[in-house]
Amino acid sequence: MRLVNINDVEVGSQIAKPVYDSKLSLLINKGAKLSETILNKLINADIRHLYIEDEISKGVNLEPMISDELKLQAFVIMKQIYESQMNENKQNEAVRESTIKELKDLVDDIITEIYSRNEQKYFSTELMGAEMYHYNHSVEVMILSLLIGRKMGLDRERLLKLGMGAMLCDIGKSRVPQEILNKKGKLDESEFDEMKRHVDYSYAILKDLVGLSSLSRQIVLLHHEKLDGTGYPNGFTGDQIPLLVRIATVCDIFSAIVSDRTYNNRISVDTAIEILRSATPLKLDQDVFQTLLQVVDIYPPGTLVELGTGQVGIVIESNPNSPTRPKIRILSGNRGEIIDLMQELSLFIKKVVPKLT
Ligand SMILES: [Fe+2]
Repeated sequence: MRLVNINDVEVGSQIAKPVYDSKLSLLINKGAKLSETILNKLINADIRHLYIEDEISKGVNLEPMISDELKLQAFVIMKQIYESQMNENKQNEAVRESTIKELKDLVDDIITEIYSRNEQKYFSTELMGAEMYHYNHSVEVMILSLLIGRKMGLDRERLLKLGMGAMLCDIGKSRVPQEILNKKGKLDESEFDEMKRHVDYSYAILKDLVGLSSLSRQIVLLHHEKLDGTGYPNGFTGDQIPLLVRIATVCDIFSAIVSDRTYNNRISVDTAIEILRSATPLKLDQDVFQTLLQVVDIYPPGTLVELGTGQVGIVIESNPNSPTRPKIRILSGNRGEIIDLMQELSLFIKKVVPKLT
């Protein structure tokens, strides 16, 4: 299976992962053949990418670290909270304690899954319209934060607090006007100011909630602060920003870059890492960034890459010990040749290519 841009998918392609619309209804299931009607439906639902099975990706397996069922449960809860806050009449009603309890149980289940998958690297496999970005993003930030937190040695109790804070960071976006939130172009200054207010909205929604730790609330309030003081809302610097917040910040930025958003298509993981590297250690925590490199799969199976030699291939297997040196099946020239970059040390990946030309 491999991920392809919807503009490059042909009618008749076999779908490799289910796709959902913004109501979390199934648009097309795994194994189905793509028809013209469904393709149009997917485009209308603003689905930008699809996983397909084809000749090129034969035998390429993408086993998600967190099960689709667990992730779907997370989306359902996040959607409930978002929608309860989007309704102006209900905005003054606090998020129900029972919902927070449900969320906590779910984060706890995800921590259990993470503990059971020791060396596996993380890659996102979610397929939803860009409208769903906000729910998806919350769940991704939570999972990535937990992975980094675990690798950095946090105990289970602190992981739970980190996961809850990371997941609820952007809950206040539910109160940002939709036309700003889903604007396709760049935000102007006043729109950006309103967008920044999501931090205060998030804090206001959660501040009196029994059952949510002060550490989780701190993550929510400070997740846009930067170490050099250029962040918001307080312009805090260095030690004023606790480690758990720094973790959520790195994950928030990383997840945003590698996702399809209303105004931008996803960017490959290797490029996202370079963007984060350029902000480290001035704005982002060096140790957290280094740990991110250990937990994400830079070239997940199915990625099309160009080698330094100019050959193009598909990643068929990641290498957990050396993420930049996966196993590749060549698709140009010596088609079908398997190159293990761990063995061929003079070869290297030059870049990710979006499609075969
Ligand atoms: Fe945010």
